[in-house]
Amino acid sequence: MDFYYITTPIYYVNDIPHLGHAYTSVAADVCARFWRLCGVSTYFVTGVDEHGQKVEKAAQKQGCAPQAFVDKMNVSFEELTKLLNISNDDYIRTTQERHKSAVSALWNILYSKGYIYLDRYEGWYSVRDEAFFTEDELIEGLAPTGAPVEWMAEESYFFKLSAFQQKLLDLYQNEKLLIVPHTKYNEVISFIKSGLKDLSISRTKISWGIKVPQNSQHIIYVWLDALTNYITALHFPNIESDLYTNYWQNGYSLHLMGKDILRFHAVYWPAFLLAAELPLPKKIFAHGWWLAEGQKMSKSLGNVISPFNIVKEFEVDYLRYFLMREISFGNDGNFSKEALINRVNTDLANNIGNLIHRTLTLLTKNFNGVIRVKPDKDELIVNQAYSILSKLRAFIDNQKIQECLIEIVYLSSSANEYMHNKEPWKIIKNNPDSAQQVLTNVIEVIRIVGIVLQPFIPSLASVVLDNLGIKGSERTFSCLTYSYSLPFAHFIPPPTPIFKKFEL
Ligand code: MSP
Repeated sequence: MDFYYITTPIYYVNDIPHLGHAYTSVAADVCARFWRLCGVSTYFVTGVDEHGQKVEKAAQKQGCAPQAFVDKMNVSFEELTKLLNISNDDYIRTTQERHKSAVSALWNILYSKGYIYLDRYEGWYSVRDEAFFTEDELIEGLAPTGAPVEWMAEESYFFKLSAFQQKLLDLYQNEKLLIVPHTKYNEVISFIKSGLKDLSISRTKISWGIKVPQNSQHIIYVWLDALTNYITALHFPNIESDLYTNYWQNGYSLHLMGKDILRFHAVYWPAFLLAAELPLPKKIFAHGWWLAEGQKMSKSLGNVISPFNIVKEFEVDYLRYFLMREISFGNDGNFSKEALINRVNTDLANNIGNLIHRTLTLLTKNFNGVIRVKPDKDELIVNQAYSILSKLRAFIDNQKIQECLIEIVYLSSSANEYMHNKEPWKIIKNNPDSAQQVLTNVIEVIRIVGIVLQPFIPSLASVVLDNLGIKGSERTFSCLTYSYSLPFAHFIPPPTPIFKKFEL
């Protein structure tokens, strides 16, 4: 893999950001940082979805002009991106001119190829989902998501989605485009098999959005608008640009999103691309949902978790660690402060933190902090450390982020056990060389742990590496080998506490 492209959904700015937004951003950030550290050219895009009826309504409710409203709301999304230490290369706002040009260009391609026609739409629309529903899809008068629906009857442009039913099935059956996890793949396939109807892709009753190039009475459907962001960021319609060629045409592209918006990504988006004869992404990954203390987060229940508050209380890396470690990426999970505290105390403070503290304290006390030997390559624990990268690569390749952290903590546990068995504190007096060898072996494990933790908890990992005195230029994954182990006479200062221990 030479070029890796990863995206988050672009977030609606109708309300302030919540934990769900933080989740996808952190997961995408972990993957992006991981591949960069592997030396893979990586491009990572996130941003906001500013058009559509939902945003228009929210602006109206506040008595604000839509542009002023989105400018204001966007601020907290940009702040959250910074606060979470997200390493995105670009940040898309759908009100930007570059995006409007990209959407118009895509529309014109679809139009010129005969995939768009004018007709009349009559049916149900859920503003909250920004989605159309047929009568038989409704459940007790509500959208399947539980959102209220309103009746819509207006002139509309349609996209010939029905023409892509078999093509989409072929695409998925031939694994030209992957949907992960597999349960989600099955859902998409059965949805497509149930029959695809042409899709209404313009509205006349709203005015906030991008105008249809051929008819200024119509506003382009917000999902056609929003999905295009993935190629706007790569300079579409300039398909000769380096970004587009490297990352979209020839690269490995992965869209991450929550399960609720999989259908838009796995049915509409590839159909638009197939119709326009543009390259497709390589993989679509749908993650699960966080519940708040067992319940769905909602404004009416007043239980929406603010990532800002959590970070204020715990610091960003503890939130990042918890979100990535607590649930298997793809499943639903439950957020509670208690679970967060237990998790970070157990894994970070008590396991990794303890390993570092006791090892470096022994080195300081008995050897003035000076390393006098190289790690023993024949020692099992050292080998276990050197072999971790290939495991982590395989996990990240499959978005198994939780498994990575389990593996890293397992390595730290093994090193703690090794210390326990070797008891260097007991042999120091009579056999200092052997004690020094044990400590050096463990310090090598700590160096590896510090380096591989960087994608997950970048700030805390850098404190670990600072503690060991590792140069900035020796922190990439190419340094996870014996040849980069600490040199003879390397001095490590007395340890400072790295991981906090939180009170329940
Ligand atoms: N604007 C669209 C996406 C367009 S992408 C071309 C949108 N925005 S959203 O703000 O409503 O949702 C963004 C993401 O947040 C989705 O992936 C959604 O699954 C995720 N989450 C919303 N609530 C969530 C949880 N409670 N838990 C985890 N993620 C959740 O949809």
